[in-house]
Amino acid sequence: MNSFTLHAPAKINLSLRILGKRDDGFHELDTLMVKLPGLADEIQFDASHEFSFGCDDPSVPSDEHNLVVKAVRQFQEATGLPANYRITLRKIIPHGAGLGGGSSDAASTLLGLNRLHGSPLAKQEIQEIAASLGSDVPFFLLPGAARCTGRGEKITAAPSPEPFRILLLKPAFGVPTPDAYRRWIQSQEIPGIHYAPQEFAGIQLTNDLERPVFEKHRFLAELKQWLLTRDDIAAALLCGSGSTIFAALRNGSDPKQITKAAQHELDPGLWTWSGLTG
Ligand code: C5P
Repeated sequence: MNSFTLHAPAKINLSLRILGKRDDGFHELDTLMVKLPGLADEIQFDASHEFSFGCDDPSVPSDEHNLVVKAVRQFQEATGLPANYRITLRKIIPHGAGLGGGSSDAASTLLGLNRLHGSPLAKQEIQEIAASLGSDVPFFLLPGAARCTGRGEKITAAPSPEPFRILLLKPAFGVPTPDAYRRWIQSQEIPGIHYAPQEFAGIQLTNDLERPVFEKHRFLAELKQWLLTRDDIAAALLCGSGSTIFAALRNGSDPKQITKAAQHELDPGLWTWSGLTG
């Protein structure tokens, strides 16, 4: 092998319910997640005499703090094997966005290294390493949609909803996940903002992290409300802990037109992406 590239997809939570705070500081979750196959980071493996890592996005750490590097270290420790590859990460998924980019990168790295070495780790071992790297990482080991419980690491495959077109909108700021969870218990709803579950394609779209995140970042509440006033949008919801909002588009609606209007009326710096759920 000289070089190969893996695609690490983003996710959105169609529902995220917080059942309570646990003694270990995490929160007990019940969440339904789907992947976005069209929005993916690229991880390139090149054979080398030693391990090295690079990332094209200077705002992402390229040292031991990066989840790709953490995944490599865990793989080396579990197998005793060297990871003699130059790994290059091309960031396509924005970070601090609630789209699971870092977790997906970690999962792909584990799967990639295991494949390159002839599968020294069993599925269960990979699953355990993934869970130790982050609550969302195990979800990305498997294809398709899943219901995730525990702190998010217990995965049950779920029937994938019929793919539907979404538009993602994200302001320049990100939301640190620990901050969103920490605020959850004391947070209040903002009057006039829609938090109730939205029926869409047989799913109740809902996200309990909207309450703490909207309270701190009012712009995101405004963005959701703005989307919900439009006839071409069926539903809108915060992605994970934010700062992305996704809109489920009605048939025939034009994401470019919605993007243009949002950038004109709300924030010219909005990042957007449109595509199908997986
Ligand atoms: O597991 P992960 O590293 O992605 O979690 C980041 C942070 O989010 C945790 O340190 C914790 O503060 C918070 N979290 C939580 N409950 C969860 C998942 C994450 O409180 N189920």
